[in-house]
Parts: sequence; structure tokens; C-alpha cells
Amino acid sequence: MILVIGGAGYIGSHLVKELVKTNEVVVLDNLSTGHRWAIDEKAVFVEGNLGNEKDLESVFTNHKIDAVMHFAANSLVGESVTDPLKYYQNNVAATLTLLQTMMKHHVKKFIFSSTAATYGIPSVDIITEDTATNPINPYGRSKLMIEQILADFASAYDMEYVVLRYFNAAGAYETAEIGECHDPETHLIPIILQHLLGERENISVFGSDYDTADGTCIRDYIHVTDLANAHISALQALLDGSKKTATYNLGNGLGYSVKEVIETCEKVTGKKANVVMADRRAGDPARLVASSDKIHAELGWKAQISLEKIIASAWNWHQNSAKVTN
Ligand code: UFG
Repeated sequence: MILVIGGAGYIGSHLVKELVKTNEVVVLDNLSTGHRWAIDEKAVFVEGNLGNEKDLESVFTNHKIDAVMHFAANSLVGESVTDPLKYYQNNVAATLTLLQTMMKHHVKKFIFSSTAATYGIPSVDIITEDTATNPINPYGRSKLMIEQILADFASAYDMEYVVLRYFNAAGAYETAEIGECHDPETHLIPIILQHLLGERENISVFGSDYDTADGTCIRDYIHVTDLANAHISALQALLDGSKKTATYNLGNGLGYSVKEVIETCEKVTGKKANVVMADRRAGDPARLVASSDKIHAELGWKAQISLEKIIASAWNWHQNSAKVTN
């Protein structure tokens, strides 16, 4: 049985859809930002908190857990600056409670959702796992702290783990049953699509004076199903013992500027966006693009889905989402 913590959230729910095809799955989620409807019905659902020893104890006692995948974190960079306590409490302290419970029950295999935000403002154009980590906000620091804790636990307690550093997750499940559904929404692609559906007046581009070709920020967008498949490869490597510890970037290896993303959304939807130039958003690095060569070489995983297809899947979801969520 695989325990997925945060399996009702955006990335966790897409992972569960893939994982239930080959594994028994139990999802623990407090539904604070995730959705009950997003959890695949083949998974067992337990409502509870990752930082609550009693909730964890009952999951580990009632199920024979072989490995844990942990998606339950707060992940808004701006909020982490104004409310760092929330980030250190939920992302660090609660995760420690989870790790402690795992050890008590002799569960040693762990997959951890980390982030490109651990790199801060990188000094290279293409980020590898060897690029220095120097996070510039509490969100990135909270994730890096757990990475460091995992390395210490591996040395001291034989913990086995794979850390996956996501770049910009986007897109939706192929059937449009589930997709990105945050409240409030802060991410670029859903904001553009909501605008093109008439749900927002315009799109603000945060900064047009960056040191990039068109002056807007460059990101590496990766389809959420590509991300899910990377987790399945990582889980397989832990379960068959071919990996004991590893850290991998997950991206497409291609950078797109905010302007290029807007243009691609216009092309995919056939609609014209009303774009407003705005000030830079605090904490945004100019460029974050991943090399995912390491996971390709070691586990054979590679992102498959292009930006156009990512946006097309998100567009299907946005058109369908009112039916699913109501
Ligand atoms: N942007 C706009 N207008 C908007 C929203 C976003 O111009 O209305 C810009 C941002 O300034 C940024 C780019 O679009 O340059 C992407 O922004 P997102 O908010 O979609 O994504 P981020 O790159 O800020 O952050 C995401 C995750 C983080 C993670 C990071 C790693 O939300 O958790 O990717 O790359 F750390």
C-alpha cells in the first residue's frame, strides 16, 4: 500500500490517478486546499492532518504502508514571505512528525515534493541538481530544510528517499475530470485561461524589464501527468532497491517567457487576451529552466508533453471545471 499525503491537491490528485492503475493507495489529506472530488475513487481516503500524530498513527496502524509520497505543503512564495510561521509549521514541523511516525512503523521509503525555489536566483541558464541551492524565500527554505533532514536521516536511520524538484507544473488530466483548481489562483496559465473564458477582466504581466529577450520572466512548464509519471519511476526505483537516495529536477528543459505563454494560450484557444503591464512581483527570479538529464539517465524518465499540449489540456479542464466542481 502506498500512502499519498496531499492526494486531494493539484499534483497529488494527478499522481493518484496514475498510481491506482498499478498500486493500492491510501490518501491522507485535510482538504484545506485540496478537493474530495479530485481523489480517484479507487484510492482509500482518510481525512486528517499530516502534523497530527493521532491521524498518522491510525493510518499507519490500519494499513501496511510500503512507501510514502508527500505532496501536502503550502506553496505560495509571496505568502511564505508574509507568513513564514505557516510555512515552517506546515512544511517543516508537520513533515518531521510524519518522518517520526514512519520510523516508528519501520517505513523507510519516501518521495518528497521539492521545488525549483530551492535554487533561488541561479547563476546558470540551465539548472542541474549540482547548481548551488540558495533559496530567497521561506517557501524555498522550508523545502530545502526537509531535503537536508532527509540526507541526515538517510545517514543515521537508513531512510531511503527521492527528492523531486518541480519546475512549473501546469496542465490537466487528459479526460478533464481533474485539473488545477486553486483559490485564490496565482499561477500564470490558469489566470490567462480564466481571462480568456471571460472570468477575469485582463492579465497583468509582472515585470517587462527583466534581463531576458522580451523582458518578461522565463519559466520551464511541465505537464502534471509528466510529473506524476516521474514519481512512479522514482517509486519503482525505491521499491525495487535500485535507488537508496536521489535528488532530481523535473522540467521540460525549455524556457518560455510570460509573453510567449500568453501568445501560446491565444493560439490554442483562438481568443485574444487583454494584457496589462504591471510591476515586478517580489521574489520572482528572471529565469528558471531545468536540466532533467539526470533522471533521464538514471530512471529513463523524460517530459513528453509540449507547452501547446499543456495549455490545450488546461483549456479543456477550465471549460469543464464548472461541471466537476459544482
Ligand atoms: N505571472 C504574471 N502574471 C500573473 C501570474 C504570474 O506575469 O498573473 C508571472 C510570474 O511573475 C512568473 C511567471 O508568470 O514570472 C510564472 O508565475 P507562476 O505564479 O505561475 O509560477 P512561479 O514561477 O511563481 O511559481 C511556481 C510555483 C512555486 C514554485 C515555482 C518553481 O507556484 O511553488 O513555480 O519554479 F516554487
